[in-house]
Amino acid sequence: MAASNTPKHIAIIMDGNGRWAAKNKLPRIEGHRRGAEAVKRALRAAQENGVKTLTLYAFSVENWNRPKDEVLALMDLLERFLSEQIPELIKRKIRLRVIGRYRELPERIQTLLHEAEETTKDYDEYSLGLALNYGSRTEVVDAVRAVNQAATVGQIDINDLDYNSFRQYLYTRDMPDPDLVIRTSGECRLSNFLLLQSAYAEIYLSKVLWPDFDEAEFKAAIAEYSSRERRYGKTTEQIKA
Ligand code: IPE
Ligand code: IPE
Ligand code: MG
Repeated sequence: MAASNTPKHIAIIMDGNGRWAAKNKLPRIEGHRRGAEAVKRALRAAQENGVKTLTLYAFSVENWNRPKDEVLALMDLLERFLSEQIPELIKRKIRLRVIGRYRELPERIQTLLHEAEETTKDYDEYSLGLALNYGSRTEVVDAVRAVNQAATVGQIDINDLDYNSFRQYLYTRDMPDPDLVIRTSGECRLSNFLLLQSAYAEIYLSKVLWPDFDEAEFKAAIAEYSSRERRYGKTTEQIKA
């Protein structure tokens, strides 16, 4: 059950798999494997705590610059994770939404994602956003191109464009903005994640490395969120009125 001040949308920058592996004297990919287990826990925690939308930053456009064998291992892990977890999403009526340039992902992964998005598209209570080959800057560039295309064919008048109409061209067009952004591993940056959508999100920095992230930490983040006052530029007095 969700309390009245539970965030509707939590977005997580899942960071620290490599450091978790180093700390445990294991190869980096083992950290990523454990990270995949933490993803399953987070999904369950979201549903159990009434968080309707969970968006996970799984692979950034910049992550292609990692060593080739790590990128290959990550793609392999992603494929296996999807094959195993998509039936689970369907069973639990969770809608899958992929954000990012997913046409650049390996074809087998694209097929899995596309089919899962189609199968789950009518589930309207819970959704999982997966940010894959995602970067806010490429998202904005893609949106500007799409706006230009729409203006060229006369679908829109560029002079009428405001943020609300612009956001219809973002990958997240049919998702609410995140209320809470969590980053694990103690890093204090957004790394090109949902920069526009997080304009008024609360940010929670967790010291926990992603493979150790559990329901207790998820709840701690929600509790911290509940104690914040979101003012959107107004004064406290206005908010309390
Ligand atoms: C996050 O963990 C997973 C991805 C970015 C794919 P990292 O692999 O970035 O872990 P650290 O930051 O090296 O500890
Ligand atoms: C951000 O983590 C990307 C994901 C969690 C997928 P990184 O580990 O890639 O971020 P930086 O490079 O430390 O900023
Ligand atoms: Mg990292």
